[in-house]
Amino acid sequence: MTDAPLAQRTLVLVKPDGVRRGLAGEVLRRIEAKGYTLAAVELRHADEALLVEHYAEHAGKPFVGPLIAMMSSGPVLAIVAEGQRVVEGFRSLAGATDPTLAAPGTIRGDLARDWGRPVIENLVHGSDSPTSAEREIALWFPAL
Ligand code: TYD
Ligand code: MG
Repeated sequence: MTDAPLAQRTLVLVKPDGVRRGLAGEVLRRIEAKGYTLAAVELRHADEALLVEHYAEHAGKPFVGPLIAMMSSGPVLAIVAEGQRVVEGFRSLAGATDPTLAAPGTIRGDLARDWGRPVIENLVHGSDSPTSAEREIALWFPAL
């Protein structure tokens, strides 16, 4: 199976909670099983400057400090996935932001939950629009 030309790309991150819990392979498996192509996969320890840029849309919100601390608490698996409508497709695979409410069958619904900490630990990030995806891919993978 191959995509028509002009397939889309998205940035997926397996967050430190996911890597720590040994779920990076499970996230890759779900992306591949859905039929998307892996264009880049790299284990990275993100520094604060990158994370501030990555979460620029949330600047000033109360959770952004704890979020950046959590995101720099260990390595993340950074992934670029490709395919038609992969941005919305991965968001659908990931499920709702709040893992308690995320539907069973989704990554967050099956594998994440509330631990009572100040930041939501929901295992994965997925770009929220094609424009965000290209901005985020340029940040995490400048050579792509
Ligand atoms: P957001 O971009 O709204 O969610 P998503 O990851 O589903 O696109 O928020 C970014 C991350 O910030 C989210 O995954 C978890 C964290 N977060 C909190 O800790 N508290 C909050 O109230 C919100 C909205 C997000
Ligand atoms: Mg988001």
